[in-house]
Amino acid sequence: MLDQARSGSYSQLEVNRGLPAPLLVMDFEKIEGRWVIKEDLRKMCEFRAMNLTTPWPMMQPFDLIFIRNVLIYFDQETKAGILKKMKAVMLPHGSLILGTAETTINLDPEWAPVKVGNTTVFRLGKAAAALKKAA
Ligand SMILES: C[S@@+](CC[C@H](N)C(=O)[O-])C[C@H]1O[C@@H](n2cnc3c(N)ncnc32)[C@H](O)[C@@H]1O
Repeated sequence: MLDQARSGSYSQLEVNRGLPAPLLVMDFEKIEGRWVIKEDLRKMCEFRAMNLTTPWPMMQPFDLIFIRNVLIYFDQETKAGILKKMKAVMLPHGSLILGTAETTINLDPEWAPVKVGNTTVFRLGKAAAALKKAA
């Protein structure tokens, strides 16, 4: 899976699953029948295997974390532990995106759900308050 992600190469069927055409044209090139992410964009990405339940390596802080349908596997205590570790690597204005059936409610009061367009993201207390005030 990591090799596939690093290759940045997708079939027509894969790019048809929700990627807007203008982004496809801007960020991919067609090579031998497959859509390949352009080199300058690919160079900005790093792919690493990581176990969420064991101590995390040192990481740059994140603006955005996508972790869709992963917390569902864990018990409450483990979920809370992962959310705590995410706090340590999230920039103050950052957003956490979970699966539609997932929430931080009853796990960690510092994460607050904030509606953004048609979706809900989770932000750390002060960032969530600032966003609500601006809305
Ligand atoms: C239902 S899949 C969701 C995959 C993807 N996020 C998506 O939405 O399509 C759950 C993922 O959680 C990963 N996972 C399960 N336990 C994990 C752990 N302890 N650390 C990191 N990833 C884990 C699995 O390998 C799997 O890829």
